[in-house]
Amino acid sequence: MALKGVTGRWSSIRRYSSLPEIPGCNFTVSNYKGSHYDSVKSGRMNSVTPTTPPFYKKPLLIHEGHKQWLWDHTGRRYLDMFGGVVTVSVGHSHPKVTEAATSQLSKLNHTTSIYMHPKYQEYADKLIGKLPGNLKVLYMTNSGSESNELAFLMAKVYTGAQDIISLNNSYHGSTYMTNAATGMSTWRYPIASAPGHPQVTVPDVYRGSWGGSQCRDCPVSQRGQTCECIGDKCIAAEKYLKDLKDTIQFSLPNNGKFAAFIAESIQGIGGVVQFPRTYLRGAYDIIKSKNALYIADEVQVGFGRTGDHFWGFECDDIIPDIVTMAKGIGNGFPMGAVVTTPEIAASLSQALHFNTFGGNPLACAIGSAVLDVIEEEKLQENSKVVGTYLLHRLSTLLLEYPTMVGDVRGKGLMIGVELVSNPDKKTPLEDEYMASLFEDTKDMGLLIGRGGIHKNVLRIKPPMCVTKEDADFTVEVIKKALDNCRDRNLISRDNVYIGAL
Ligand SMILES: Cc1ncc(COP(=O)(O)O)c(C=O)c1O
Repeated sequence: MALKGVTGRWSSIRRYSSLPEIPGCNFTVSNYKGSHYDSVKSGRMNSVTPTTPPFYKKPLLIHEGHKQWLWDHTGRRYLDMFGGVVTVSVGHSHPKVTEAATSQLSKLNHTTSIYMHPKYQEYADKLIGKLPGNLKVLYMTNSGSESNELAFLMAKVYTGAQDIISLNNSYHGSTYMTNAATGMSTWRYPIASAPGHPQVTVPDVYRGSWGGSQCRDCPVSQRGQTCECIGDKCIAAEKYLKDLKDTIQFSLPNNGKFAAFIAESIQGIGGVVQFPRTYLRGAYDIIKSKNALYIADEVQVGFGRTGDHFWGFECDDIIPDIVTMAKGIGNGFPMGAVVTTPEIAASLSQALHFNTFGGNPLACAIGSAVLDVIEEEKLQENSKVVGTYLLHRLSTLLLEYPTMVGDVRGKGLMIGVELVSNPDKKTPLEDEYMASLFEDTKDMGLLIGRGGIHKNVLRIKPPMCVTKEDADFTVEVIKKALDNCRDRNLISRDNVYIGAL
């Protein structure tokens, strides 16, 4: 099988005898006219954000996007199943979003909240209309970190308490407080963290101490772990909740007083970790019994991605006190938001809080167009249909590659495939092999992400306009990359490393 649209220019892919066929696309891409690849690469490596090197041994130089497609400087097309880290929600360069941006840009690009402008109100009404209960007041920000930082400030001022509880394996941002709330050592510098950020055991039913095949709200059952559940009562959830109760009882001041608990309904950067389905509702009840606030971090899971609901917290039957957003909210435009109740919002009025760019007319026009597109193109529904289809197809890897694929999980278009070298011990597939497999997927035209503390989870979180054909291609490429990994004798068929160990 030939790789459609690929010519001999891409010598790196020639070693494959038969390749999955990339789905068709009738968009005409422009010629790349930017700086030479080598000079962009050396600049990127030496003088631009050297702490986060680009993905891949041979990094991609991307120059154009359309829907779920990206093109590199040579004109080669890739299926983008990672959406610029779960950010391109409705598709690259969506015409409606582009039109909203250009028309607003030509009229009024910027003014701050010192004046009123109609776009802010129009957008606020639209976004708030998507939220339940008394979540009626919008603050606009520039990023997810800023949204969570503001949520923490609100929670502390409103409750008069200081501690914010988060989960191990979480990611909530890169600022002082949000980094302290992030439960991954890989994101920590050796400096003192912000105080008041206790973390509790992540209820990870695959890697954690408790969990069974039916714990998660996922179309694919977990392999090989029987469930202890009795009727509707999830025993794993109860056990993890005990850890939350213990932390509150033993670690917090003033008889367990704290400001807030923050969680994503499915952990994103942590490697698409899904909890027992009753855990977050149980946590919510505990939090409310202590008069603390529940912050739902919807930066990745919001805006229809999980398919069944528009917000991740709706899957958990919770109405949070504060909801934080970013990424998909602007389809790649740098914007974020915090929505809360009038009572909590009022607590911030005792001092000035100002944000130069948050809610500027351009951001509001774009955010508004993104909401329209999600609705008009039924992208939440598409997330459910295509995501469920893809999860079912990926679940076959558990049978076909039992020694390499440890777990397949997720919901809608928030999907993780955890790779292992020993499925019984759940030994994470070593970085060297992950890197080679990852490079292969790119060379075959598929862009996905990596995540988890061991960086051994393939993360699939594409623009929500992807099709079943794209899902098929994704599965075929991952299969081929797993085959290549196996055929190169990196990993034997009976769980023993030939390469490294
Ligand atoms: C769940 C979650 N919260 C917060 C953030 C921080 O967002 P930003 O990078 O826009 O500051 C991220 C970023 O990846 C995230 O995944």
